[in-house]
Amino acid sequence: MTETIDRKAHWQGVYERKYEDEVSWYQARPALSLQLIANTGLGRDAAIIDAGGGASVLVDYLLDSGHADVTVLDIASAALEKARARLGERAAHVQWITADLLNWQPPRQYDIWHDRAVFHFLTASADRQRYVEVLKRALKPGGHVIIATFAPDGPEKCSGLPVQRHSPESIAAELGDGFELVEAADEHHITPAGKVQHFNYARLRRRENT
Ligand SMILES: C[S@@+](CC[C@H](N)C(=O)[O-])C[C@H]1O[C@@H](n2cnc3c(N)ncnc32)[C@H](O)[C@@H]1O
Repeated sequence: MTETIDRKAHWQGVYERKYEDEVSWYQARPALSLQLIANTGLGRDAAIIDAGGGASVLVDYLLDSGHADVTVLDIASAALEKARARLGERAAHVQWITADLLNWQPPRQYDIWHDRAVFHFLTASADRQRYVEVLKRALKPGGHVIIATFAPDGPEKCSGLPVQRHSPESIAAELGDGFELVEAADEHHITPAGKVQHFNYARLRRRENT
C-alpha cells in the first residue's frame, strides 16, 4: 500500500506541476501507437484500454478515427483531469479510471491493451509479474497488447525514476508463453527539451487457449 501511495504521490505531483506538453514523454501525435493499433485489424468497436495513459492525446486520435469503446487508466487523477478538460464534451465518450494498475481489479475484458512508458518503471520482477497477472485478467483471449519501453540503449531514468529497459523480445519473455510476439518497431522520441530517447514497441497477441 505504501508503494501505491508513493507512486501516486509522485505522478500526481508531476501532473500538478507541469503542463501536459512539457513532460518528457509528450507526443503531439502518437503515430506509432496509432499504427500498431490499426495493425491489429480490429474495428472501431474494439474495446481499447490505454493503461497508464496519463494525459496522452492517444485518446483524442482514437475518438477522431471513430473508436467508440476507449478506456484510459492512470494512477494520477490530475493526468486524467487534464485529458478530460482538453476533450471537453467528448470526454463523456471515454471511460476514465483512476487506479494503480498493479492493484486494479479489471471490471471487464478488452481487445487491445496499450501501454507506452509504464511497464518500464517496473524494475522489480514481482511487480512485473503482478502487471502480467492484471493484464491477463483484463485482456480477452486472442486480444492484442502493445507495450512501448525505453530500448536497451535508451535513458536509464524517466521522470526521475529508474527504469528497466527492454527489447521487444525481453518484453515478450516477461509476458510469457501465453503471448506471441507479432510485431516489433522502434522510435526515436524527441522530448520537448530536444533530447532523443530510443523506444522499443512490441505488439503481442494473447493465445486463445490461455
Ligand atoms: C511516462 S508517463 C507515460 C504516459 C502516457 N502513456 C504517454 O505515453 O504519454 C507514465 C504514466 O504512467 C502512469 N503510471 C505510473 N505507474 C502507474 C501505475 N502503477 N498504475 C497506473 N498508472 C501508472 C503515470 O501516472 C504516467 O501517466
